[in-house]
Amino acid sequence: MNELEHVHMGNGHGLPEIVKIEKIVDENRNAKTFFLDKRIGFKPGQFLMVWIPGLGEKPFSISYAGAMTGITVYLKGKFTRRLFEMNTGDRIGIRGPYGNGFTLKGNACVVGGGAGIAPLAPLIENLDDPYVILGAKNADELLFDKRFPDAMITTDDGSKGFSGFTTELLKNILKERAFDVVYTCGPEIMMKKVFEICENAGIKCQASLERYMKCGIGVCGHCEIDGFRVCKDGPVFSSEQLRIMESFGKTAKLKNGEKVSIEDYTRHRYE
Ligand SMILES: Cc1cc2nc3c(=O)[nH]c(=O)nc-3n(C[C@H](O)[C@H](O)[C@H](O)COP(=O)(O)OP(=O)(O)OC[C@H]3O[C@@H](n4cnc5c(N)ncnc54)[C@H](O)[C@@H]3O)c2cc1C
Ligand code: FES
Repeated sequence: MNELEHVHMGNGHGLPEIVKIEKIVDENRNAKTFFLDKRIGFKPGQFLMVWIPGLGEKPFSISYAGAMTGITVYLKGKFTRRLFEMNTGDRIGIRGPYGNGFTLKGNACVVGGGAGIAPLAPLIENLDDPYVILGAKNADELLFDKRFPDAMITTDDGSKGFSGFTTELLKNILKERAFDVVYTCGPEIMMKKVFEICENAGIKCQASLERYMKCGIGVCGHCEIDGFRVCKDGPVFSSEQLRIMESFGKTAKLKNGEKVSIEDYTRHRYE
């Protein structure tokens, strides 16, 4: 059991627990971290269902452990806009932590893209000297580059670090170094490429997937992907599981159940 798992959390009734926003930190021009007045025991990779009255519940990964648990939120649509309008002292509801989380192994490489770095951050802090690749479209959109000063940075436009995708850097590094496991979270197209690179190199991969969630606890079935429930069986999936997921990197279901390409799913806004 790691340090994070000692503290049990939740009201035990499956109802949102009301917590106070203790601190808000601007991480980059699109992302803020909301620190809650509660220590939560969790495994890196697990998420909370956040409740805002009138707007329902949405899943967010735990990005900071400690006396004040943190979630790092990217501004997207209605729900995240409402969160961005909140101030310290405001209250939200939370359920969780839910999901399986990452399985910790030695000699690891971590590949994060965009908002995907959020669930990877507590993992990086619990691994022994991992090789970390953090990628974003440009320098302004990088997340946690100051929190992890030893990380290799990639930007699509070359405004900071390696110019190109995280996957190109991963391929280069694998020519020189061997790893037991590669952990990844980010745009699904990126994770699919990371997985394929790992398959070719004979390295185990753990990828944290996103699907539209309603209940967050394995009941409604909405987050299903090829027989797996992302909220309960995932969000972290192993190479063995990714190998048999035909929809991985290809399709996902919108809120109304319609199956669309992963590109259209990522672009979709519910307003
Ligand atoms: C396991 C998991 C962990 C996540 N962790 C984070 C995180 O740490 N930081 C972060 O910024 N975002 C995270 N997300 C995504 C986050 O839930 C959405 O960005 C948020 O719900 C957007 O809501 P909105 O109303 O602002 O935008 P909308 O316009 O409603 O949606 C924008 C996009 O967000 C996604 N989304 C919306 N509602 C849901 C939902 N109920 N379940 C899953 N995805 C949804 C869809 O891709 C949608 O296209 C996570 C999602 C999952 C499944
Ligand atoms: S969100 Fe309901 S089963 Fe996963």
